Amino acid sequence: MSASIVIGQTPRGEPIKIDIKELLATRLLVQGNSGSGKSHLLRRLLEESAPIVQQVVIDPEGDFVSLAEEFGHVVIDGSAYGEAEIARLAARIRQHRASVVLALDELEIDQQMKCAAQFLNALFDAPREQWYPALVVVDEAQMFAPAAAGEVTEEARRVSLAAMTNLMCRGRKRGLAGVIATQRLAKLAKNVAAEASNFLMGRTFLDIDMVRAADLLGMERRQAEQIRDLSRGQFLGLGPAISRRPVAVDIGSVRSGAKSVTPGLAPLPTASTEDMRELLHAGLHIEPERPEFPRPAPRVEDAETLARRIAANEMLEPTGAQARERERLRAEPEPEENRAAVIAILNAMASEPDCTFQSSTTLFQDFSIRCRMKGLSVRELDATMFRRGFAAALAGIEDPEDERWKDLFNLARHVPDDALAPFFVIARAAMDGEPCPDDTELARIYGTSSPRRVQRLLDYLEKDGLLVVRTDFSGKRSVSLPDMGVTTAPVEA
Ligand SMILES: Nc1ncnc2c1ncn2[C@@H]1O[C@H](COP(=O)(O)OP(=O)(O)OP(=O)(O)O)[C@@H](O)[C@H]1O
Ligand SMILES: [Mg+2]
Repeated sequence: MSASIVIGQTPRGEPIKIDIKELLATRLLVQGNSGSGKSHLLRRLLEESAPIVQQVVIDPEGDFVSLAEEFGHVVIDGSAYGEAEIARLAARIRQHRASVVLALDELEIDQQMKCAAQFLNALFDAPREQWYPALVVVDEAQMFAPAAAGEVTEEARRVSLAAMTNLMCRGRKRGLAGVIATQRLAKLAKNVAAEASNFLMGRTFLDIDMVRAADLLGMERRQAEQIRDLSRGQFLGLGPAISRRPVAVDIGSVRSGAKSVTPGLAPLPTASTEDMRELLHAGLHIEPERPEFPRPAPRVEDAETLARRIAANEMLEPTGAQARERERLRAEPEPEENRAAVIAILNAMASEPDCTFQSSTTLFQDFSIRCRMKGLSVRELDATMFRRGFAAALAGIEDPEDERWKDLFNLARHVPDDALAPFFVIARAAMDGEPCPDDTELARIYGTSSPRRVQRLLDYLEKDGLLVVRTDFSGKRSVSLPDMGVTTAPVEA
């Protein structure tokens, strides 16, 4: 007996199904570059299978919280609970078979990893009588199971990787079926990727990822080129739950409301979303609440400090002719030139389309490589300094040393790193008396496709007194920065 959902269709219009029962036993790996349609695919899978199987979504971007409205998932805001509470929530999710979205977008990356790890471990530790089948969907899985050490702390990496390995390697017996999506296969820990037997491969540019994808699909390297030519929303599927041979799938639309039936799988609980929320949350605070995933105080270095620290720094360990060059440079340091070179790199990166949709780890690596290529030392570089410099560059602040930006940079010390780029963009518009960019543009700068996140960002900045958003009766929005006494021109948002 099977319970299948239709995930999409072939270019010839034949439906492609995913057998959910088989999927529970054999897991799924989705790969594709940013914008290839992975999150859309996951959403389609979740929506179609919502009536069939319990679902747990680890959602680093807050992309899936809208499942709550249509499908009754309980949204758990990871930033609102301590470690013990997250573990208790996870235990109740198993007990009550609740479908949930763990939204981690309010947390810093280290905390996202620790929170997800705690949560997954507690799902894993449920008593045997609660080993009901559940899909555990992890978007941006390379973040939780990185192949190599990155900017995160070793502890966060260790616990998160262990939890993901557990999920993928040992979860099945406990009813937990990992469905993971990643932008880059090469960045995902190999043992985590290796446990999936089903694949959906979307558009992939980099050779290294393409080759790994082709290997997983059992395709010849020559054939692999077609992975590069896939369009948005198009994937090659293979695996026991999908197809015995690689098939091209155009992923179907979302919120189609098509519901499947559930032969062979136990019916889901019938509690309403409200009741379920109550069941999960009642008496959660029985232990003193500790802020175990605290938000760190915002770091204060800006692009200027970043550039100076690099400028003051030595060159990379050199050999031969490089060593002589180094001596020469030591003799006559050119900090101003180095500073300009760093700023030029930041500006060049910021002018690339889609750059904001890359993870900050990817961007920082890219930045380090570019610095090395220019002979700039990266030893003293830190990711936070980079993020702040990059945010300024995104807002078109080409020379952060210009006196003009002094007040703005002072004010920006109170803005968290991830909110800086949109903050700078709005501030610039206000300083120039220009209209505030619309939500689509703010979303692009913020690196999200969700207008809801932009709204939350504006709310957050407003709550902190950094911005005042005003909408007049004709629906036009203007944004003021009270500390600087500037306001954007009113315009429809
Ligand atoms: N099959 C599809 N049909 C219609 N629209 C789609 C489809 N796939 C993706 N899209 C749209 O394309 C955009 C990018 O897709 P999505 O957010 O799923 O990409 P992604 O691979 O998750 O990117 P990232 O790695 O940056 O998160 C979204 O606006 C999405 O709605
Ligand atoms: Mg996505």
